[in-house]
Parts: sequence; C-alpha cells; structure tokens
Amino acid sequence: MSGLFLTLEGIDGAGKSSHIDALQALFEAQGRHVTRTREPGGTPLAETLRTLILAQPMDALTESLLVFAARRDHVVRVIEPALARGDVVLCDRFTDATFAYQGAGRGFDTALLSTLEHWVQAASSPTSQPHELLQPDITLWFDVAPEIAAERLAGARLPDKFESQPVDFFRRVAAGYAERAAGAPRFARIDASRPREQVWQQIESALAERGLAASQVDSAP
Ligand code: TYD
Repeated sequence: MSGLFLTLEGIDGAGKSSHIDALQALFEAQGRHVTRTREPGGTPLAETLRTLILAQPMDALTESLLVFAARRDHVVRVIEPALARGDVVLCDRFTDATFAYQGAGRGFDTALLSTLEHWVQAASSPTSQPHELLQPDITLWFDVAPEIAAERLAGARLPDKFESQPVDFFRRVAAGYAERAAGAPRFARIDASRPREQVWQQIESALAERGLAASQVDSAP
C-alpha cells in the first residue's frame, strides 16, 4: 500500500489540532498505520529548533532557515521512511505554513522560500523523478476569519511568539494560505468558523471526495 501524506494548516486558533485524534482513528479503522507528527518539530533536533523558533526574536531569514533546517531533519528521519513503509503521515503544519507565516505574514521573499523548499523537499527515493518534490497528497486548510480565531485564542494558555501577533498579521497569514491554495488541487478548504461537528463533516467529505474515507466509518469526535 502506498503512503499518504496529509497535512493540516490554518492560522492560530483555527482549531485544526482538535481533529487530529479523529483523523487518526478514521485511518486506523481502515487498517492503516498512522504516523502522527508536527512542524516545526517531529524529531529531537527539530523539536529543539521549535523551542527557539517559537520563543526567540529573530529576523525573518534566520527564522526561515531554522524552520527549513528543522523540516529537513523531519523529512529525512520521519516523513520519508514512514511514507516508504506505506503509513498515513498526519502532519500538523508543513511548508504551506512557512509561505503563510514567514512569506505573507512577515513579508519575507517567497522566491527564496521556494528555493529552500526545493533544497529541503527534493525527493530522495530511487524511484522518484529528478526535481520531483515531496509535497502533501492532501492539505486540510482550516479557513477562519482572523477575528474569530483571535477570540478563540483569547484566554487560552500563554501565547507564543506568533500567537501574540496582532490581528493584522493573521490577516496577511490567512491571505497567504488563500494564495497558496489557489489552483492547488491538494488543498481542501474547510470552513473552520462552523461548529466542531460540522467542521468534522467537511473533513469527512473532503476525504471521501478523494476516495480516502469510508463514509461508513463512524469516527466523529
Ligand atoms: P501550532 O502548530 O499552532 O502549534 P500549537 O497548537 O502547539 O500552538 O504552532 C506552531 C507555530 O509555528 C504557529 O504559530 C505557526 C508557526 N510556524 C511558522 O511560523 N512557520 C512554519 O513553517 C511552521 C511549520 C509553523
């Protein structure tokens, strides 16, 4: 069975993380082995870099290099081996977040981000084509107005470096996701302003449309 690379994306407060347990259960009910991971992070080195990225002030180039350094370690040590085994890889954020946060949010050069993406995600399997890039097979994009997301975050735990950004920052990040999603069929837009059960229904439909969810599987959260 070939591996499946599924990512979850959206601005802070969109609620994506609250559906990962149910996604794991859905794929396990289909008899698939699931590797669950996140970015920045997913390996000891990348988790160490995550702590720095989320806490330390730094310029946008430093931040982008660290995010991609963490990603390289994660791709080589976790994602590629899991896909080669035929696992479903459920990854909370991936490179779309870099284009949205560092690119659109912080205004960093997206051409340079594309170069880093090519360096870091050049597929290394013997069967892959030259210049083929590792990309998610499906990206669940939790789209929600920044004002609603900010309300959800208010009063939650102590905000990190990104979560404490003003609403304007998240408007740019949200626009960055929309731009990245335009014309990329791997993106499934989920209206994350809806109540939780309706968000889950949209996820199931998006998977079913791609032949990935047996609709008889009852794995609602
Ligand atoms: P997040 O995934 O929201 O985790 P948690 O739910 O624990 O807060 O936090 C990761 C943060 O890192 C989020 O604010 C987005 C940011 N980020 C980037 O700026 N660039 C990236 O490439 C990635 C993967 C994340």
